[in-house]
Amino acid sequence: MNRSDFPILQSSADEPGFVYLDSAATTQKPNAVIDAVSNYYRTSNANVHRAAHKLSALATQAFEAARENVRAFINAGAVEEIVFTRGTTEAINLIAAVHRGALSVGDEILISHLEHHSNIVPWQMLAAATGARLTACNVLTSGELDLNDFHSKLSNRTRIVAIGHVSNALGTVNPIADIVSAGHAAGALVVVDGAQAVAHMPVDVSAMDCDFYAFSGHKLYGPTGIGVLYGRRELLEALPPWQGGGEMIEHVSIETSTYNRLPFKFEAGTPNIAGAIGLSAAIDYLHEQDWQILQAAEQELLSMCIAELQQMPEVQLIGTPKHRAGVVSFLVDGSHPHDIGTLLDQQGVSVRTGHHCTMPLMQHLNIPGTVRASFAMYNDADDVAKFAAAMRKTLTFV
Ligand code: ALA
Repeated sequence: MNRSDFPILQSSADEPGFVYLDSAATTQKPNAVIDAVSNYYRTSNANVHRAAHKLSALATQAFEAARENVRAFINAGAVEEIVFTRGTTEAINLIAAVHRGALSVGDEILISHLEHHSNIVPWQMLAAATGARLTACNVLTSGELDLNDFHSKLSNRTRIVAIGHVSNALGTVNPIADIVSAGHAAGALVVVDGAQAVAHMPVDVSAMDCDFYAFSGHKLYGPTGIGVLYGRRELLEALPPWQGGGEMIEHVSIETSTYNRLPFKFEAGTPNIAGAIGLSAAIDYLHEQDWQILQAAEQELLSMCIAELQQMPEVQLIGTPKHRAGVVSFLVDGSHPHDIGTLLDQQGVSVRTGHHCTMPLMQHLNIPGTVRASFAMYNDADDVAKFAAAMRKTLTFV
């Protein structure tokens, strides 16, 4: 990894650049990804799976090679288990929607107070449509799941457990393998929101043994508008399709239709072909890295950032999880997070402020939101030093 691989992060005498600490919202893209998308449109643009001509064959080959690359990246058993979506949100909505016929009054869906809205609202909609009950595991002030509460809320009524792998708001890494095995022991399906995990650790869905795993390309150094739903093959086979249209069918008459095989049954309409190719390039880029080195460097930056903030008496860290990835969240006594974010931005430091699409977590912790600094592979010690200097200056203003 070389920071110069990321053109947006380059600075010059005229353009002093900025410190980007908002990678949990979206990561910056390396040239390899930008070039892959651009080259696809320049050389191979055509629709996939539809035509006899050479360009379509080229596009189809690249699109399906991207699927295989995703499969290998998360160690799924088969390409049929990889459904391309618009992102994590669409993947979770898909899974929730196709379970409308499977749940009824008396069933429960178990989530947690740590979840992103995209792993809450689709389950509320499923509960409303079926009469099932939505329950949520509590979160400790450390930002970790209250596992006793999780076990007490898990029962043979629980049909679906939906939990994030890593919290986007606090960075908590959840004990996901334990959650999956507990969910399965109770007879539930387990859906994992992996949006904040995939860029920070190797993910092996076979070892994790989850039923569904969702993630987005844009948090993995890939393009926006492309994401992945992994689903266990026998479950996807048995579930009804979600959206209807081209590609997802086998035969259509005015009266009725039969559906395509996996994974196309869940991919109605022209997919985001360039997005899939860009995501595949991002995965190739990640393959060139060493996870151990990336993770050690990230942990070092997180520790440095926390140590700097701990020296500022006005700053309160929100969440102190033992296992943390990518994120440091905090508040400044007497100041609204937005004001801190604006003052940091004026000094060239980009952070996210607010509820981070986790309003129930903020209510649970009784805080208005946080300031969130989030890290990716292109950040370095100099970024932390600039952030800390900007924070010190900010504290003199508020
Ligand atoms: N889910 C994204 C974030 O955490 C947008 O910022």
